[in-house]
Amino acid sequence: MNKIKIDPAIADSIKKFTLPDYLGFGQVMGPVMASCTYENGKWSELELLPYGPISMYPNAKVLHYAQEIFEGMKAYRVDGHGPYIFRPDENHLRFNRSAERMAMPHIPFDLFMQANLEVTAYSASCVPKRSGESLYLRPFMFATEEALGIKPSEKFRFMVITSPSGSYFSTGGVSVLIERHGARAFPGGTGYAKAGGNYAASLQAAIKTKQLGFVQTLWLDGKEKKYIEEMSGMNFMAVINNELHTPEINDSILEGITRKSILTLAREAGIKVVERKMDINELILDIKAHRCTEVFACGTAAIIAPIDYLAEETGERIPLRDNEGKMALVLREMLLSIQEGRASDKYNWIVPIEPKHL
Ligand code: COI
Repeated sequence: MNKIKIDPAIADSIKKFTLPDYLGFGQVMGPVMASCTYENGKWSELELLPYGPISMYPNAKVLHYAQEIFEGMKAYRVDGHGPYIFRPDENHLRFNRSAERMAMPHIPFDLFMQANLEVTAYSASCVPKRSGESLYLRPFMFATEEALGIKPSEKFRFMVITSPSGSYFSTGGVSVLIERHGARAFPGGTGYAKAGGNYAASLQAAIKTKQLGFVQTLWLDGKEKKYIEEMSGMNFMAVINNELHTPEINDSILEGITRKSILTLAREAGIKVVERKMDINELILDIKAHRCTEVFACGTAAIIAPIDYLAEETGERIPLRDNEGKMALVLREMLLSIQEGRASDKYNWIVPIEPKHL
């Protein structure tokens, strides 16, 4: 373990923190954060600080050229178990894949783990305890070099902040607008990286989706606008003839850790898993003919969220027969029971954290 510097002020910030009854997603911030910097090819000592504002120069490269990446993972503490963090090693691998794409340095495994584990250990009392709720961890890295030339930054900051969170979707039914015009990503682009810019690029469509009365945007491939990709922040799955179908991974889809875990659990439950290119127009025919009975979104924040209907910009709605998600709910329970420590962790997915106090 590397040495770590702990600001004694975190004790007060933890003491003052109270968990509100309604959490939502990402609205309440936990009282502790971790921070370290990268300069001259080296990472500094990790620090734990009270959650609060940070300062940087207005010419920090991240503010101009968006050299920024992030991750999302969760710590669970339900029924007196935990906290448990779910598959942080996978988040670390993906963080470094994103870092490479965005010309940023790798973060060593030990540093990434220590930052997330220590923040969780000191924040144990802030992890919500109702099933489905958790402490959402948000590790992120951004370019801090003060210069306006378009060159990769040589200085970075890595941080972990937390947010005690409940359900991602506040409304019951999730509706999805098929985005037939814009594109989120292209072959050779940055779509597979968890880079802030990808999410910024999805927001104009998010406004349109909301204005038309729908909840999420479904992105198609950038070239032909034909094959389903993902939902910015969630992967997409469909139950067709009782098999689980999902778009195969390519460089414009973010490879979800929840996606990967669900595919493992589905195979374990004897469900046939098909990863393939999914033509949106074929899927619509399958839904109309009731070959496709349910579709759902999956991701760290959303866990598994059944979708009520797909929609076109014309206002046409394509409802799902099993819009409450029969298979989706079975898979959700299989996943959540492992994440919450209620089922045996046969894949070694969870990392138990020993709570710490100052
Ligand atoms: C996550 O599930 O962690 C995500 O990345 C979605 C987030 C952008 C809200």
